[in-house]
Amino acid sequence: MSLPPKLESVISQIEKDFEIKDDFLIKATDFFLEQMDVGLATPEQTREKMPMIPTYVVKRPTGTEKGLYLAADLGGTNFRVCSIQLNGDHTFELQQDKYRIPDEVMKAPKSSDLFGYLAKKVETFLLDHHPETCTAKNAAPLKLGFTFSFPVNQTALGHGTLIRWTKGFDIPDAVDRDVVNLFQANLTILEVNVQVVALTNDTVSALVARAYTNDPKKTNANTIIGCIFGTGTNGAYFETLDKIPKLKNAPEGAEGMVINTEWGSFDNSLKILPSTEYDDSVDAETPNPGYHLFEKRISGRFLGEILRVALIDLFKKGLIFQELFKERGGSLPHRIDQPWLLDAEVLSYIELDDSTDLNMSGLILQNVLRLPTTRDERYVIQRITRAISARAAKLSAVPLAAVAHRVKDQYKDDDRDFEIACDGSLIEFYPNFRKRVTEYIEYINPLKGTNKKVILKVEKSSSSLGSVVVTALH
Ligand code: GLC
Repeated sequence: MSLPPKLESVISQIEKDFEIKDDFLIKATDFFLEQMDVGLATPEQTREKMPMIPTYVVKRPTGTEKGLYLAADLGGTNFRVCSIQLNGDHTFELQQDKYRIPDEVMKAPKSSDLFGYLAKKVETFLLDHHPETCTAKNAAPLKLGFTFSFPVNQTALGHGTLIRWTKGFDIPDAVDRDVVNLFQANLTILEVNVQVVALTNDTVSALVARAYTNDPKKTNANTIIGCIFGTGTNGAYFETLDKIPKLKNAPEGAEGMVINTEWGSFDNSLKILPSTEYDDSVDAETPNPGYHLFEKRISGRFLGEILRVALIDLFKKGLIFQELFKERGGSLPHRIDQPWLLDAEVLSYIELDDSTDLNMSGLILQNVLRLPTTRDERYVIQRITRAISARAAKLSAVPLAAVAHRVKDQYKDDDRDFEIACDGSLIEFYPNFRKRVTEYIEYINPLKGTNKKVILKVEKSSSSLGSVVVTALH
């Protein structure tokens, strides 16, 4: 399919701007390893450093943990409340309710607007699923693991202060405050008989959850990383204490600790990350400009927005949507004109479309965005979509390969493969995303010199299970 020459040359240039050469992967992996050490060395949080947050999770599950616990999970657009029965044999039973966080709660003036909302949902969940805990007099409180997937300065297993909001949340009143205290205080106001015991990031949960369900005797694999490629991206892994110089108060007897890398903030100084004018525009629209720039090139919340700002730029240059603009009397449909309304799910359909004249994409754009398109416009949209997602998949391989390489020696006494527990819509549903990430990891070859493989394992519902396992463990 050919485009008019001017449009073709602009699109080819955009594709070039998004392209990452294979040798960049090696250079970026080395740089990532350096940045991990920098983050582990000094406690101060600055924009330039990857946070590398000690989580106070010092034990690794064996799969024999038992009991009934609650989990509350605030990660992105949804809040989940669950009760989980750990059976002690790598299996579990789960009951779960899910609530979409209203926009006015994501961006609220007071922290109690959010934490009061969360506490209320826990109360509703208990009344529906475990009414006995609400009525029993003097019953011991149910223990709850709180998965809170934002950068937190963790001070103990069950305490941590919010460093900053990410992924579109903006409640300034909660920044620098202990999120467990805020949550517990609101539960107490409602007289909900629950004690928040552990605070975990979703990546820590993914790691611990899979370490619980994984039976290495059957899989011949150790679970070494927990990561998320969804609305945001991040990863956690187990580090030995000698490599965490900034940690001064490790619990007695601990040999290591799970580190929440917050790799979304890898290379906020843009020393090596590729950058386009579209990345800059998207960053400028976020509540945290200059932060989490790696995440803003990779994760689900941003891919659609990058495409949208690119299309608006082409429109402003007079290259697309011109007829439409005239027909509508001087406007574009609001879902393409407004930030953040183009979901990565739409990109996932366009990515794979091989229908005649990309008619399937046409239908989707019409249905979801109310955007009528010409054949050339659809072709443009598909090419930019593919450029954006190819870059995201390539960048995603970097932290995974780096961490696998870094912990190689921890596992040198066995012949087990390295399993990476992943969760999130992008890795689970985006066409070929997981396959491409796996191929790029193979290219980087972080386990050179061993016979081990790196395997990406999608672990669903890991967020809640993980915080429950952490609660049971400690
Ligand atoms: C964002 C958050 C991080 C979380 C990730 C995935 O990067 O800062 O804490 O783990 O999203 O949800």
